[in-house]
Amino acid sequence: MIAPILLRRVGHIDPESLADYEAYEGFRALRQVLMRRPEQVVEMVKASGLRGRGGALFPTGVKWEAVARQPRRPKYVVCNADESEPGTFKDRVLLEGDPFAVVEAMVIAGYAVGASKGYIYVRGEYHRAYTRLSRAVSVAREAGYLGTHILGSDFSFDIEIRRGAGAYVCGEETALFESIEGKRGMPRQKPPFPTEQGLFGQPTLINNVETLACIPWIVRSGPAWFREIGSPAMPGPKLFCVSGAVQRPGVYEAPVTITLRELIEGMAGGLPSGQEVQAILVGGAAGAFATPEEMDTPLTPEALQAIGVPLGSGAIMVIDHRVPLWEVLRRVARFFAHESCGKCYPCQLGTYRQWEIVERLARGEPLPGDVERLRDIAATMADASICGLGQTAANAILSALEKGLVSVPTPA
Ligand SMILES: Cc1cc2nc3c(=O)[nH]c(=O)nc-3n(C[C@H](O)[C@H](O)[C@H](O)COP(=O)(O)O)c2cc1C
Ligand code: SF4
Repeated sequence: MIAPILLRRVGHIDPESLADYEAYEGFRALRQVLMRRPEQVVEMVKASGLRGRGGALFPTGVKWEAVARQPRRPKYVVCNADESEPGTFKDRVLLEGDPFAVVEAMVIAGYAVGASKGYIYVRGEYHRAYTRLSRAVSVAREAGYLGTHILGSDFSFDIEIRRGAGAYVCGEETALFESIEGKRGMPRQKPPFPTEQGLFGQPTLINNVETLACIPWIVRSGPAWFREIGSPAMPGPKLFCVSGAVQRPGVYEAPVTITLRELIEGMAGGLPSGQEVQAILVGGAAGAFATPEEMDTPLTPEALQAIGVPLGSGAIMVIDHRVPLWEVLRRVARFFAHESCGKCYPCQLGTYRQWEIVERLARGEPLPGDVERLRDIAATMADASICGLGQTAANAILSALEKGLVSVPTPA
């Protein structure tokens, strides 16, 4: 097990104190970066192998390079702090416990890609995170880490904070841009990708909070150090949100080589006595189920793929044997029907039909052909939806069916 990196300061410093942050290596990475050329910083992030922690695992350096290459100005850096995936609460811990790290990482990102302005889009319910971030931004500005001529250099960059209003889909990057622009949060067709036409139609770098939190450490300790942690396909530390039937639910930092069992039974203290694992929902509502037999699987993307489970945002929900699993599926189906923005028909209609069928199956009153219909709707949503919400809305339900975690009632 590694000593905490991303969580190193959390709980050990006063998150409102710049002096505390500076005493724990804070803003040293920014000072180093300002002495390098922007291309060198992009190269460093590429060499680290860092992949996005918001769920899609996109290579971060490739994205940074694509924005850096865009000649159009202005460019923006956006921090996705919407954290809307059910069961995910890792970004909250970073935002509340180490807000200056997010600010430092965004300034570094701005310098590397040639952006002059940054936005942090914070989940509406995260009041404490919002207050601490707001304070961190104004304190950093007063100290010369933000604003014009940062630390006496030619580089100027500032940050604005925007709050979400409770829509899951506003965590999707293009819906998030629409929301910042003051419009209804609905995803855009891609391409064009944000790197080309993002916020206000300009080249935009958007990264998750945890992705950004890795950046100052990569600069300070180097890409080779970062690659030594984790797996070749997923280097660096990872935060996991363990919830449900465990003795110590919480956010745990570990390399992805840790197994589900080590995380659940070791770090999270296992299940309360007398309870057994029935299933584990990995990756949140958009994720899929692992079975008790699959608990020795490492949390590397490759190993998880082999059991049909996405790592996603790192949510691990442990469900014990007493929970009626159809009830969990009913809630997942209702969640997607409720959160679908309605822009495209496969998802607008599909999530509702899926919910109705799951309700019937959960009640033990299916109509003939319901399971086939469910599979048909799932395939249509996966193939034809505009955004990841519709594309993943059936994953958990299908995986429970395919792994035999629920029994299918026979029509009367
Ligand atoms: C429905 C939906 C919700 C999402 N919610 C979030 C979220 O809350 N936070 C986040 O960082 N990414 C979220 N994403 C992923 C973002 O679209 C985007 O991939 C991410 O912010 C990119 O940052 P990264 O490369 O650092 O992971 C969501 C995607 C979808 C389809
Ligand atoms: S897939 Fe769903 S959430 Fe995404 S654009 Fe279509 S209707 Fe909206």
